[in-house]
Amino acid sequence: MTKDDVFAILLNSKGYISGEAISKELGLSRAAVNSAVKALRAEGLVISSVTNKGYLLESYPRRLTAGEIYSHLDHERTRSVICLETVDSTNNRLKEMLKDDPVPGTTIIANEQTGGRGRMGRSFSSPAGCGIYLSMLIRPKGQISDVSGITAWTAVAVHNAILSAYGIDTDIKWVNDLYLNGKKITGILTELSVEGEIGMVSSIIIGIGINVNHKPEDFPEELRDIATSISYGSSSGELDRSLLAAEVIKELDKMAALWPDGKKEYLDTYRRKCITLDKDVDVINYATGYKRSAHTIDINPDFSLKVRYEDGTIDDVRSGEVRVRGIS
Ligand code: BTN
Repeated sequence: MTKDDVFAILLNSKGYISGEAISKELGLSRAAVNSAVKALRAEGLVISSVTNKGYLLESYPRRLTAGEIYSHLDHERTRSVICLETVDSTNNRLKEMLKDDPVPGTTIIANEQTGGRGRMGRSFSSPAGCGIYLSMLIRPKGQISDVSGITAWTAVAVHNAILSAYGIDTDIKWVNDLYLNGKKITGILTELSVEGEIGMVSSIIIGIGINVNHKPEDFPEELRDIATSISYGSSSGELDRSLLAAEVIKELDKMAALWPDGKKEYLDTYRRKCITLDKDVDVINYATGYKRSAHTIDINPDFSLKVRYEDGTIDDVRSGEVRVRGIS
């Protein structure tokens, strides 16, 4: 949207910038720039204007807005990044868009989800104003078995994004949760569409929820002991969510470009950051709910978890839940 593009230019401008320079950069008329500035002022942005100098962004309310996110991305990339104030679920919205054949990389980001979904049919708490709720479409070539590692690659991509944006080094809990100080800060839900006849994956929606600026009271009571946010967990104050949202997009773009040949980089980081290794765990079977005690031995090249059960048998766990004793 024009006003988001104008906001991004004002954010990146070191001082005053003329209306003419903005209209040239965006290929817009001066009148369109004027009305974008008017619309931004109506949203609470303080933009001063001085004759012969142009516009200066003095201040703006900190929200997760398209303009702020766009200011960290190439203009071309912003064309397939959609920002919403509120939505039931960004994964649902992207799924609805599949019928229009959106370009790979199409991304939806929301400031709030009213029906955020997690794995195993659980809900994902997504209050307004504190997190990042983002879904991206990718179209990797391969069958279901070929793309099974993508969820673990995504955990590495989000780990890298948090490190680039804030310099904060998170842990990975198998298979794709990110943890900080022993509590969950990120959940990832990947949903595949398969072409029935040939069994090839036609699209993957990668959904990522990141707890960025939540305070304990922003979580439902039952999550307060097991979830935290990046800012709360690191006592670093309120963090810029748009910066992280842009870094996540860049890292997911990189991941999609490196898939599948760049596996070594992702596997190395995964093994280095995985807190589920060399631990006593409970392996829980999704289908039966059956729980078995085991010790974790290794991350296999396909990102499955090698475990030794108490009776000495060795197994590779590919799905289900693994609970580390002592970690929520
Ligand atoms: C989990 O931890 O169980 C996975 C949570 C995934 C949450 C994200 S938020 C963005 C996207 N939209 C959803 O409805 N879910 C995912």
